[in-house]
Amino acid sequence: MGPVWALLLLLHITQNTEGFCDARVNNAQCYGALGGTIEIQLMDIGSATYKCQWKKNKQNIFVWRKNVVQTNKLENRSVFNASTGIIQIQNLTYNDNDSYSLEFNNKDGKQTKKTLHKLIIEAPVSFVLLQHKYLSNGEVRATCTPQRGDSLEYSWTLNGHNLTDSELLYKNSENNITLRQNTAGRLRCSVKNHISQEFKEINFSACDCDAGVTDAQCYGALGGTIEIQLMDSGSVTHRCRWKKNNKIIFEWKNNAVRTNKLENRSVFNASTGIIQIQNLTLSDSDSYSLEFYNKEGKQTKATLHKLIIEGK
Ligand SMILES: *[C@@H]1O[C@H](CO)[C@@H](O)[C@H](O)[C@H]1NC(C)=O
Ligand SMILES: *[C@@H]1O[C@H](CO)[C@@H](O)[C@H](O)[C@H]1NC(C)=O
Ligand SMILES: *[C@@H]1O[C@H](CO)[C@@H](O)[C@H](O)[C@H]1NC(C)=O
Ligand SMILES: *[C@@H]1O[C@H](CO)[C@@H](O)[C@H](O)[C@H]1NC(C)=O
Ligand SMILES: *[C@@H]1O[C@H](CO)[C@@H](O)[C@H](O)[C@H]1NC(C)=O
Ligand SMILES: *[C@@H]1O[C@H](CO)[C@@H](O)[C@H](O)[C@H]1NC(C)=O
Ligand SMILES: *[C@@H]1O[C@H](CO)[C@@H](O)[C@H](O)[C@H]1NC(C)=O
Ligand SMILES: *[C@@H]1O[C@H](CO)[C@@H](O)[C@H](O)[C@H]1NC(C)=O
Ligand SMILES: *[C@@H]1O[C@H](CO)[C@@H](O)[C@H](O)[C@H]1NC(C)=O
Ligand SMILES: *[C@@H]1O[C@H](CO)[C@@H](O)[C@H](O)[C@H]1NC(C)=O
Repeated sequence: MGPVWALLLLLHITQNTEGFCDARVNNAQCYGALGGTIEIQLMDIGSATYKCQWKKNKQNIFVWRKNVVQTNKLENRSVFNASTGIIQIQNLTYNDNDSYSLEFNNKDGKQTKKTLHKLIIEAPVSFVLLQHKYLSNGEVRATCTPQRGDSLEYSWTLNGHNLTDSELLYKNSENNITLRQNTAGRLRCSVKNHISQEFKEINFSACDCDAGVTDAQCYGALGGTIEIQLMDSGSVTHRCRWKKNNKIIFEWKNNAVRTNKLENRSVFNASTGIIQIQNLTLSDSDSYSLEFYNKEGKQTKATLHKLIIEGK
């Protein structure tokens, strides 16, 4: 093989780490994406291979003999290029997930080489959902659930670094973790398998409940206190309405609190944007929404969240 070919082959391999398989290497494990495409190197580039048989589970699926393709059971979804020795297979299915062998014979019918390899088809990771809820003791539980994907591996970071012991209380499972009290920041869950990866991020604050994150579920203890982040700290929110079951319970407008139905048992701190509610009762358990408006009266953001008050 000349240096130019070697370089081309090298580039080819590095560009197709997931969708490329060198079947000439014994015991290769090759990964393909369900519905995707894989290129498999069967013969040497520009080689004068006399006979080559590629078998799936001991059945011939592709036979090359005397410079022609004699058999190609994948003909309707493959392209074989005789000058590169590569077969490209499209529309991969779980049925392709199997053990394969590759056998070479010379003119005299003698076997000159035999290799075994595996093709492993994985569904790509997709639609990663990252949810978190505040537990009544201030801990935060985060769960990461992709809707699709095989052989998944999870990893977590907070503000760009791996979770430390002072942040992570424990892992309930690889995709379900509990963070310590007062942990805050940008949490990222990354999910990968051999052929794909995806991540999802959320920002959350160190209070008990961040109402600005949609679908937050916040837990409070009966008779206890909860801190709820309504507005960003130090922000210049023009108008914000917090509704319980569609009725306004708190409204901020033009730098002042206009309505606070919880006035006798709450403290709102305008510089942090956090409202602290005391003496929680079971009737605080409800669905809430938080809406933001700009000066022109246009709604700029709306989120939904739930408050769940639990008895001791
Ligand atoms: C490929 O498609 C043709 C036409 O649909 C069909 O006759 C043939 O059996 C198919 N070949 C294989 C190997 O499935
Ligand atoms: C392969 O998939 C494409 C698009 O997903 C489809 O158009 C095509 O008919 C499929 N080919 C075979 C042989 O299944
Ligand atoms: C086979 O691959 C070579 C090198 O990549 C390319 O130049 C040639 O056009 C390909 N032939 C076919 C039939 O696709
Ligand atoms: C694919 O094959 C591997 C072993 O080679 C096996 O572990 C895996 O479960 C198979 N996947 C499917 C979807 O059958
Ligand atoms: C973070 O953890 C992963 C394994 O989960 C490890 O591969 C990586 O090196 C770690 N990064 C740092 C900066 O420690
Ligand atoms: C996460 O783990 C906790 C504790 O083991 C469990 O109660 C909870 O149901 C799990 N959540 C999900 C979404 O699996
Ligand atoms: C989290 O906050 C950072 C910095 O404030 C921002 O750039 C990013 O878009 C936020 N991410 C989400 C998912 O809200
Ligand atoms: C707060 O307490 C005062 C005095 O007891 C009462 O008049 C007022 O109606 C209470 N406000 C609310 C919103 O319950
Ligand atoms: C809240 O509870 C404390 C003690 O539990 C009590 O003294 C106080 O009167 C309660 N306040 C309201 C507004 O219910
Ligand atoms: C609001 O919170 C800030 C930061 O925690 C604190 O310094 C300030 O004293 C609080 N203001 C009120 C009125 O409680």
